[in-house]
Amino acid sequence: MKKTKITGVGYYVPDNIVTNKDLEKYMDTSDDWIVERTGINERRWVNEKIGTSDLAVKASEKAIEMAGLTPKDIELIIFATLTSDYNFPGSAVQVQDKMGMDTIGAFDIKVACSAFIYGLSIADQFIKTGQVNNVLLIGAEIQSTGIDVSTRGRDMAVLFGDGAGAVVLQATDGDSAILSTHMHSQGKFAQYLWAELPTSLENPCMSHEMLDAGRQFPQMNGREVFKNAVVRFPEVIMEALNANNLKVDDVDLFIPHQANLRITQFVAKRLGIGMDRMYSNIERYGNTTGASIPIALSEAYDNGKINDGDILILAAFGSGFTWASAAIRW
Ligand code: COA
Repeated sequence: MKKTKITGVGYYVPDNIVTNKDLEKYMDTSDDWIVERTGINERRWVNEKIGTSDLAVKASEKAIEMAGLTPKDIELIIFATLTSDYNFPGSAVQVQDKMGMDTIGAFDIKVACSAFIYGLSIADQFIKTGQVNNVLLIGAEIQSTGIDVSTRGRDMAVLFGDGAGAVVLQATDGDSAILSTHMHSQGKFAQYLWAELPTSLENPCMSHEMLDAGRQFPQMNGREVFKNAVVRFPEVIMEALNANNLKVDDVDLFIPHQANLRITQFVAKRLGIGMDRMYSNIERYGNTTGASIPIALSEAYDNGKINDGDILILAAFGSGFTWASAAIRW
């Protein structure tokens, strides 16, 4: 049976840098509060009319070029995002159109921060069954236009950033491949990290009153998210290691979803590893939800932190709650 290899990576973040100091203009917060609790110094927020699919195209162009392919070679697009250009259809079809691809299958998955690893798992199944050979998997978000940038929304607003990452996945007979993926969910915690509108539970699904009450903005119980994340990250990482008879020491680089530097540090401590083997760029980009792992993976590759034969563990936790991991031999 064929296996699935990552043959191209790419990322793109908007030029506009928003520092913690900049946020002090819009809400009652401080650089000290944000850095101490999250490790974030700055994030990128779009400042022009541009869609999530536009960020995605820029990241995808790099990934496709690195793979030595052209857009016409792509047979399936999977787009991990919470913030598609429109409520529907998803942004995968925008990418298909903007990149001039054939009328291939293209769909979005809405699994928040775990979506990229869920997407890896889906792509892996499509390739292993022989249905397609070349998949474009994107994680991209524009969070900045959907959050409450005021004191009311400050707990969420300071965390999130915009950006895109993409990978090309191809069929291989070699040893460099996805070794395993594991996915989990626990819907009873859905309302600990969610955005309610538009909602099928109400008629109409959105009204002026609902908007005035701020029900369109993401809401979070930060403490519960933190508490669950620091348990689920190590758990799902160990699941990936055990499935492949690997030990923590066999792993060259851990690439966690960039939720919060304090969560990442906690997980590193639990695993007994130094932060040198735990990739972090949240200081510069904040939490970019579905985009955070592919941005981190691409950046780590560009910085020479990933070499042929390396063992990588990707891990994510987020809204749902959902959590997931992937083991990869590069
Ligand atoms: N700036 C200043 N003060 C803020 C603030 C901000 N941006 N956001 C919240 N506060 C205030 C709160 O209103 C609260 O004030 P009060 O005590 O007067 O009510 C105070 O800071 C403490 O809030 P609390 O929620 O107890 O802080 P915390 O120590 O739990 O830290 C988070 C808050 C959000 C940083 C933390 O819970 C966290 O990181 N959770 C995980 C979040 C996450 O990773 N989400 C994405 C997962 S994919």
